[in-house]
Amino acid sequence: MTIKALLEQRVLAAMSAAGIPSTCPANITVSTRPEFGDFQANGAMAAAKQLKSNPRELASQIIEHLDLSGIAGNVEIAGPGFINIHLSNEFVSAQLQQLRNDQYLGVEIPPAQTIVVDYSSPNLAKEMHVGHLRSTIIGDAVARTLEFLGHQVIRQNHMGDWGTQFGMLIAELEEHLGEGERPELALGDLEVFYQQAKKHFDDDPAFAEKARNYVVKLQSGDEHCRALWQQFIDISVAHSEAVYECLNVTLKHTDIRPESAYNDDLANVVADLQRLQLAVEDQGAQVVFLEELADKKGNPSPVIIQKSGGGYLYATTDLAALRFRSRQLHADRILYFIDARQSLHMKQVFTLAKKAGFVADEVSLEHHPFGTMMGKDGKPFKTRSGGTVKLTDLLQEAVERACKLVKEKNPQLSDVEIAPIGRKVGIGAVKYADLSKTRTNDYIFDWDAMLSFEGNTAPYLQYAYTRIRSIFRRAGLEQAAINSQISIAAPHEKLLSMQLLQFGQVLDQLAREAHPHVLCNYLYELASHFMAFYEHCPILKEDVAEATRESRLAIAHLTADIMCRGLDLLGIEVMEQM
Ligand code: ARG
Repeated sequence: MTIKALLEQRVLAAMSAAGIPSTCPANITVSTRPEFGDFQANGAMAAAKQLKSNPRELASQIIEHLDLSGIAGNVEIAGPGFINIHLSNEFVSAQLQQLRNDQYLGVEIPPAQTIVVDYSSPNLAKEMHVGHLRSTIIGDAVARTLEFLGHQVIRQNHMGDWGTQFGMLIAELEEHLGEGERPELALGDLEVFYQQAKKHFDDDPAFAEKARNYVVKLQSGDEHCRALWQQFIDISVAHSEAVYECLNVTLKHTDIRPESAYNDDLANVVADLQRLQLAVEDQGAQVVFLEELADKKGNPSPVIIQKSGGGYLYATTDLAALRFRSRQLHADRILYFIDARQSLHMKQVFTLAKKAGFVADEVSLEHHPFGTMMGKDGKPFKTRSGGTVKLTDLLQEAVERACKLVKEKNPQLSDVEIAPIGRKVGIGAVKYADLSKTRTNDYIFDWDAMLSFEGNTAPYLQYAYTRIRSIFRRAGLEQAAINSQISIAAPHEKLLSMQLLQFGQVLDQLAREAHPHVLCNYLYELASHFMAFYEHCPILKEDVAEATRESRLAIAHLTADIMCRGLDLLGIEVMEQM
C-alpha cells in the first residue's frame, strides 16, 4: 500500500470515529512545504461545512481518534483546519528499506491489461517529419511505462503504405529503374522523389494516366505493380527504422501493421455498416451520419467510408483496425498518439466503432493528442527555406551539437570517448525537450534550451546521474551502499526520501493519463532534492560516522537507480561519465 493510501485509511477511520459521515473524503495531499509536514489531511473543512460545525474543532476531534503509531511522529492542526502529518524518521527509513528491496521500485502493480498503443505511424510516401517525431517519442515512453507496470503492451505502427499517391510513386520508380538506377539510390531522399513524381504527374498527362492506372492495378493485385510497390515500401520502411534506431525507440519490424494489412477487410466494414443501417448512400458515396457528434445547429457529423468511385478512406481503414484490435488482439485499452488536428477523425471512428459493435463497450478508446512543434519564430518548425525538416538531419545536428558541448566540458576526452556520450546527450535532449512539455500544447523547438546543462533538460539529469555515480567510483563503496542499513535523521535525507517514495504514484499517473511530463517533472525535482541532500549531508568527509555514511550511500544509490529507471522509461540513456 502507498503511504498516501495508508494515511487515507487511518484518517477515514478517525473521521468515522469522530461521527463524520463516510461520504466525506479524507483529502490527503503531499505537503507543499516542509513546515506543513510530509502529508496533509484536508478533509475537516469540507466535513465541517456539511455538518455546520467548526472546522478546527472537527480537526482536533479527528486527531483525538487518529491512530498513526509507528507512522507519524507529530500531527498538528494548522490554519482553518488542515491536519499536518509529520512522518517519523523510523517509518520513512523502513519504507525506504522496502523500496530498495522492491524490483518495481514502489510501483503498485495493477491487474494486467492488454493495451494496444498506436504510435509513430508515418506515411511511407514521404520522409518522416517532425509530427511523427512527437508521436514516436511520446508513444514510446508511454508504451515502456505500461510494460514496466506489467501490462501486455501491443505496439502497432499503423504506417500509411496505401492509397492513390502510390500509383504515382511506383510509376515514377519504374522510370528510374528503367534508366538503370538502383532503387535505394532513387529513393535516397523520399521528399525529393515525391516532388519529382508530383511534378511529373502534373506536367505530363500520359504519365498521370499511367499513374492512375497503376493505382487500380495495384489494388487488384497486379504482380508487376505489387513488386514495384514492395520495393518502394521496403526502402521507405528502412528509412523509418533508421530513425527509430537512432532515437532508441522500442518499435520493432514486427510492430508494423500498415494500412494495407486491412485492405481485404474494407469491403466487409462497409457491408457491415450498411447491414446495420448505419451507412447510407449520399451523392454516390457511402456515408454514416453521427447524431452523437452533431454540431451546434444539430447537423449530424458525416463520416465518408466509401467514395463514389468505390475507393475507401482513412476512416474505413481505422474502423477495420479498431475491430481487429478489439476482436483479434483482445485489447482492454487502445491508445492513439496522433496530432491534435486529427481529433475529430478519432472521435468519429471511436463513436462509430462502438455504435457498430466493432469494439466491445468496455474497451477504453483513447486519443492522446499533441500540439505542433514550432520554430523559435513561433511558426511551425521548418527549414530555413521553408521545407520540411528531415528527421535524420535534425538528429544528426543534435548529436553534433552535443559532442561539441561535451568536448568543451571535458577537453581531456578523446573523440572516440566523446562520440557515445554525445549521441546519448544529443538524442536525449531532443526527446526530453518534447516529453517534458505538456503534450497537448504546441512547443518551441530550441537547440540552446534543450542542450543546456541547467534547468529541466536531459543533459542536466544525465549529468546529475553521473555525479551520483561518481561517488561510487571509490573502491568498495557501491557494495557498502547495497548492504547497509538505511536510517534517516537529517531533514534533507528525509526530503529526498519522500521524493523517492513517490516514484510509484508518478508512474501510476503516467499510465492512466499518458502524460510523460509528470515523470520528467518528478525526475527534475528528484535531481534537485539530491543536489540539496548532497550539499547538506556529506558522505565522503572524514568526520562522518560510518553508519551515517553507509546510510547516505544507500540513499544515493537508490536515487541513481530511480533516475536511471525513470529516464529509461522515457527512452533516455544514461552514462557513467560526461
Ligand atoms: N499515418 C497517419 C499520419 O501520418 C497517422 C496514423 C495514425 N494512426 C491511425 N491509426 N490513424 O497522419
